[in-house]
Amino acid sequence: MTRYHEVYASWRSNPEEFWAKAAKDIAWYKLWDKVFEPYMGEYGRWFAGSECNTAFNCLDHHVEAGRGEQPAIIYDSPVTDTKQTITYAQLLHKVATFAQVLADQGVSKGDRVIIYMPMVPDAAVAMLACARLGAIHSVVFGGFAAAELATRIDDCMPKAIVAASCGIEPGRIVEYKPLLDQAIEIATHTPAACIILQREQAEASMIEGRDVDWASTVAATEAEGRKAPCVAVAGTDPLYILYTSGTTGQPKGVVRDNAGHMVALKWTMHNIYGIEPGEVFWSASDVGWVVGHSYIVYAPLLHGATSVMYEGKPVGTPDPGAFWRVISEHKVVSLFTAPTAFRAIKKDDAEGAYIEKYDLKHFRSLFLAGERADTDTIQWAENKLKVPVIDHWWQTETGWPICANPLGLGRMPVKYGSPTVPMPGYDIQVLDDQAKPVVPGETGTLAVKLPLPPAALPTLWQAPERFRSSYLAELPGYYTTSDAGFMDEDGYVYVMQRTDDVINVAGHRLSTGQMEEIVAGHRDVAECAVIGVEDDLKGQLPVGYVVLNAGVNREEGEVEKELVQLVRTEIGPVAAFKNVLTVKRLPKTRSGKILRGTMRAIADARDWKMPATIDDPAILDEITDAMRGRGMIKND
Ligand code: COA
Ligand code: AMP
Repeated sequence: MTRYHEVYASWRSNPEEFWAKAAKDIAWYKLWDKVFEPYMGEYGRWFAGSECNTAFNCLDHHVEAGRGEQPAIIYDSPVTDTKQTITYAQLLHKVATFAQVLADQGVSKGDRVIIYMPMVPDAAVAMLACARLGAIHSVVFGGFAAAELATRIDDCMPKAIVAASCGIEPGRIVEYKPLLDQAIEIATHTPAACIILQREQAEASMIEGRDVDWASTVAATEAEGRKAPCVAVAGTDPLYILYTSGTTGQPKGVVRDNAGHMVALKWTMHNIYGIEPGEVFWSASDVGWVVGHSYIVYAPLLHGATSVMYEGKPVGTPDPGAFWRVISEHKVVSLFTAPTAFRAIKKDDAEGAYIEKYDLKHFRSLFLAGERADTDTIQWAENKLKVPVIDHWWQTETGWPICANPLGLGRMPVKYGSPTVPMPGYDIQVLDDQAKPVVPGETGTLAVKLPLPPAALPTLWQAPERFRSSYLAELPGYYTTSDAGFMDEDGYVYVMQRTDDVINVAGHRLSTGQMEEIVAGHRDVAECAVIGVEDDLKGQLPVGYVVLNAGVNREEGEVEKELVQLVRTEIGPVAAFKNVLTVKRLPKTRSGKILRGTMRAIADARDWKMPATIDDPAILDEITDAMRGRGMIKND
């Protein structure tokens, strides 16, 4: 029997009492004046007046309570053939020492620090060291290029940047330091210091007066026995900024506060994920994404669990048994990853033969998020792993699941295609464009009735107006998720598609609008459209359609190659922008709007109707022929 209905009803009847009760699991320097203060911020703030420290709750608190010898992080890196276990006491020592190193570089409460690092434990150390000082970290995913990093440097103006010399992708070493140097050159803002973790796979050259060597500086600070204490911050102060794709090239700086974040994340560990303190939880994501922030670093540590940090891929490092090896070796009870990782495994090992090789007796559940989970993949995982497979719906903005099947409260019946039901904190409404609820089964915008729950973004970094216009203005009284979907008679939510031009490529959130801006910037391009088409492995892939300027007398393929390279240089390899098609004209409405939806339907081989407002129907035939000629229509 599930307790979900009872618990959801208790939240609904008194949200403040619900979250105040959850907040008892957190150690506070000062309790809140108000659990929820409706007159603060853009729609109110949680735990106003409180004082706390997130790193204290992740580390000191557990060590004081006798958890010092328990592993906090297990680092497993098939790409460097390294394994390392770090206990809570050791992690506390590392974090307090590195916080002192940051403090020596002038970093203090409220300062921003950018962290540009691969999946090494030092990335978590840097994040927690910032939290310890009350500084605000902003982690930038390693697959982003210099220009993306530069945008973030200029937006949050960090006092310091912490980076590694390189990341390791299968078959190649990605040197981060040249990208960092280039980014600082492009950016207007200059950080006072860069602390560089040298990895043996690529030694970075250092810039005198600016670059600080991680290892020797930490060693010297350690030798002097200097450690920074935890700084009390307001519960409503930002813990971090995480940039995410919006509809333009300017990413949105999602702000996460300290108090609400701790309370909500701690609550989810038992109630949603069914994890107990001391157990091993593995989120196979990256610290550069929200899932990495919440479920590699903060939630497992707040809960006193052990978190696996995995530097590798689901396949090819070295084989599709990599996940099962890690689960078996480290006694993982629950894995959280993106459906795309499972599609990659299934592609290489359809029979699940590699699963048979490992002892998975501790493994209890699999959680999937980041993109729509297709039923085939869920059923394959259920059949092969014989554990509950839980699809749950997330956004960078919310920081924790909006909808899930709450394992800790007792699992609800599974309906394939649905990430199940709204979690306490989320009053989900399906609305039409007049902000009127639609009937069950009918599609509309998925909206959350304000206020958002603790941990969800209170605003965008130094852009409250953009926060209001992006999320609150469209449907007054609601937060617009930009996802469309429906709810059935039993209250199960179905998330069908984005309503903006954000796409999900291998679980990575990207903006086709941003890609269009870059492609349109090429001197030979007259106009362009970038759309997300279905892909069996990555879920979606971006495809660019370009019309060249009249008089351009070059091989189409040549320009196409340059465009691929341009997006790779501007956004990074993670954009996976590899398909460009030169066409004579783009299909448009009479008012000049490009018919991206129709183009998507053609590429995905879905049924489509001739849009009534189309300017010239013949263009759709032209485009279809061009796509067909290049094998760009699904299953054609
Ligand atoms: N640093 C530098 N480059 C990176 C990178 C990083 N941290 N992560 C990815 N890249 C590069 C890849 O090397 C690849 O480059 P290429 O075009 O030269 O081959 C490109 O970015 C695209 O990477 P990716 O989308 O990861 O595709 P892939 O083909 O390398 O791997 C999967 C496919 C499915 C195995 C992989 O995407 C995966 O594990 N996805 C899970 C995603 C996830 O965890 N999302 C978080 C939400 S829960
Ligand atoms: P991100 O901010 O990277 O977590 O991406 C958020 C977006 O990913 C959401 O707005 C959805 O479009 C999509 N998404 C995440 N999880 C799911 C899910 N379980 N089902 C469907 N879409 C999802």
